[in-house]
Amino acid sequence: MSSASGDVPGQRDPASATPSASAKPPAGSHAPTGGASFDAWEQGAKPSGSDPIRLADFEALALAKMPPELGAYYSGAANDEVTLADNIAAFGRRRFLPRIGVGVEGRGTSVEVLGRRWPTPFMVAPMSLHRLADPEGEVAVARACAARNLVFSLSTVGSSTIEDVASTGAARWFQLYLLDDPGRNRELLARAEAAGYEAIILTMDAPILGRRERDIRTGFSLPSGVGYANIRRGAIKRGDTYGDDAFKPENTWDDLAWVVGATRLPVVVKGVLRADDAVHALDLGGAAVNVSNHGGRQLDQSIAAIDALPAVADAVAGRAPILLDSGIRRGTDVLIALALGARAVMLGRPVLWSLAWGGERGVGLAFDLLTAEVNLAFDLAGVRSPAEASRDLLVGG
Ligand SMILES: Cc1cc2nc3c(=O)[nH]c(=O)nc-3n(C[C@H](O)[C@H](O)[C@H](O)COP(=O)(O)O)c2cc1C
Repeated sequence: MSSASGDVPGQRDPASATPSASAKPPAGSHAPTGGASFDAWEQGAKPSGSDPIRLADFEALALAKMPPELGAYYSGAANDEVTLADNIAAFGRRRFLPRIGVGVEGRGTSVEVLGRRWPTPFMVAPMSLHRLADPEGEVAVARACAARNLVFSLSTVGSSTIEDVASTGAARWFQLYLLDDPGRNRELLARAEAAGYEAIILTMDAPILGRRERDIRTGFSLPSGVGYANIRRGAIKRGDTYGDDAFKPENTWDDLAWVVGATRLPVVVKGVLRADDAVHALDLGGAAVNVSNHGGRQLDQSIAAIDALPAVADAVAGRAPILLDSGIRRGTDVLIALALGARAVMLGRPVLWSLAWGGERGVGLAFDLLTAEVNLAFDLAGVRSPAEASRDLLVGG
């Protein structure tokens, strides 16, 4: 990225240290959910009183708790936020053709992605600066993942260190924004490898920053006490909202080839919306494709991610797993994504909102609500496994 990073605000107080995480062991392990949906609700998702009962509920609750400029940074997107809205609306336009007469006995939602079996087909998308929401930031989210065997991904511009996240025991991927110095990129990759990360997500849709007008209006900059934990603070230009000229000013296919050669980990190529780009990414050694429009934060009026998925899935034709993010808010969204060719999805903003609302417990509730909704969607659609989530499940699919 050049003078701007996809999600890199400048620091108000560059001298302020990132609080170091006190990593606790994971809080035990949930068995993958199975059986009928009421069991799933019993097992995990137990909202009480005024607790949120669906992922979208967390947004207003988080915004009510956060300083307005921080909430706007999490919720906002580029320009007129057309794509942000369309990511949600495009899921809402889909209609199921559910199967009847299918028992729920033996229903399971687990999937295998890059050599690891996941209990349910979602993971956490890479997002910057979780500590804007909670003092424990990424570490709290990773602990909630560890307790449920979900995969966490840490952003290059995260506010917790690669090592502190690793100490939670969560299965983990590292997302790379290329820095302008190949040596520093190698250092980040080596740290991620040494700390047991299992994949690298190379984000290729954010060489320069989308125009986030909410942030311009609020004059968003980093509050003191929150910093970038894995890139040098000196690399952030003081007083400049987004300034950092240490990011690579462009992302090219040569960069992807370089990253593939620089790490022994599988490389997930993030930001794919076109069939030809998906094929190119795999031809250059990408191990998986992440269909995403960055939650509408980059090029406004880009196609909704779910609308881009079918053509990408046709072109990839089973060569590699496809992950989809941008707009996942419901269990039915997960099922739609699987039916249209995704192996699994990534959960974005709801993670940050639930973290702001209730720390580790809030994130756990969000995960459990989504898990229970996925199970319910499978049962009601007559789908007993991800393999049965085929296109005929959707009108016009
Ligand atoms: C506040 C925020 C920060 C983000 N930071 C990053 C990042 O550092 N790296 C990255 O690859 N994507 C980043 N993303 C994009 C997410 O990985 C994901 O693509 C997006 O959140 C999906 O849209 P949704 O949250 O509306 O579902 C960020 C998104 C948000 C909302």
